[in-house]
Amino acid sequence: MSNLLASPTTLWLTGATSGIGKAVAEALLEEGHHIIATGRRKEAIEELASKGKGKVTVAPADTTSTSDLERVRGQLEENAPVQLAILNAGTCEYLEISDYRASVVEKNIMTNVVGTAHSVEAVLPSLRAARKKGLEARLVIVSSSAWWFPFGRAEGYGASKAALTYFAQSLRADLAREGIDVTVVSPGFVKTPLTDKNDFPMPFLISAEDAAQRIIKGLKKGKAEIQFPKRFTWMLRVLGNLPQGIIDRMAASMARDQNQQQENSR
Ligand SMILES: NC(=O)c1ccc[n+]([C@@H]2O[C@H](COP(=O)([O-])OP(=O)(O)OC[C@H]3O[C@@H](n4cnc5c(N)ncnc54)[C@H](OP(=O)(O)O)[C@@H]3O)[C@@H](O)[C@H]2O)c1
Repeated sequence: MSNLLASPTTLWLTGATSGIGKAVAEALLEEGHHIIATGRRKEAIEELASKGKGKVTVAPADTTSTSDLERVRGQLEENAPVQLAILNAGTCEYLEISDYRASVVEKNIMTNVVGTAHSVEAVLPSLRAARKKGLEARLVIVSSSAWWFPFGRAEGYGASKAALTYFAQSLRADLAREGIDVTVVSPGFVKTPLTDKNDFPMPFLISAEDAAQRIIKGLKKGKAEIQFPKRFTWMLRVLGNLPQGIIDRMAASMARDQNQQQENSR
């Protein structure tokens, strides 16, 4: 169990302007927590703040910009103690294999991995300061379960989330001796503007509000790994543990169907 979120807690949330992050923000505001809210769209954060009864600090930033994050770092320090950081900002760009562009891979890696790594640099001093006061501190990184199976077109997104999960779990090892906990969140499909553009079936799709509740419940339990929905993540785990030859044949067949559908829709 964790005492975090059991009483009013100050936290930093990135990607607070849409989808899962917005739903997490709304649920946590309802519980009376104070959110330092980040995203690139300042007006969307201001809209959240207008409903937040003075409990939202507007902290717009592009998490791939070190100068933006330097400003947010100041806001985090002004609002001490910050005991919780939920690094959720992310993107999902798919590759078109017939028009292969390395820039798609780069964009996923820049936002999902490099942006998150810079965000950690911005918040770590605040989490350390909280620990120095004897308070609990937790870093939460929103990854994905998508990389557990080699889905076609997801070269960039899957690679970024595989790297992000490794990054988070390695940080967990290093930060353990300081008593800063690290949680990795690995959702399946969640209905958000990010997945609304998908043109393929999304099994066991859940709402952003449902995802937010599962994340908050997991954090209150002090979980190191939060994975949902279970039916989807178990299915992926089983598929991902099959012999490589079988995985390759299944993945190639799924990718072929998808590419065919894409061509037919043109
Ligand atoms: N939806 C799913 O099925 C699913 C599944 C697994 C994992 N995830 C992960 O969950 C997280 C949230 O996804 P979502 O589905 O809620 O997507 P979303 O609705 O598109 O929200 C993405 C959020 O990230 C912010 N963001 C993106 N790039 C940013 C940048 N460079 N700097 C600052 N903020 C940035 C966006 O804010 P601005 O536009 O205001 O910058 C927005 O608030 C992502 O990390 C995603 O990979 C989602």
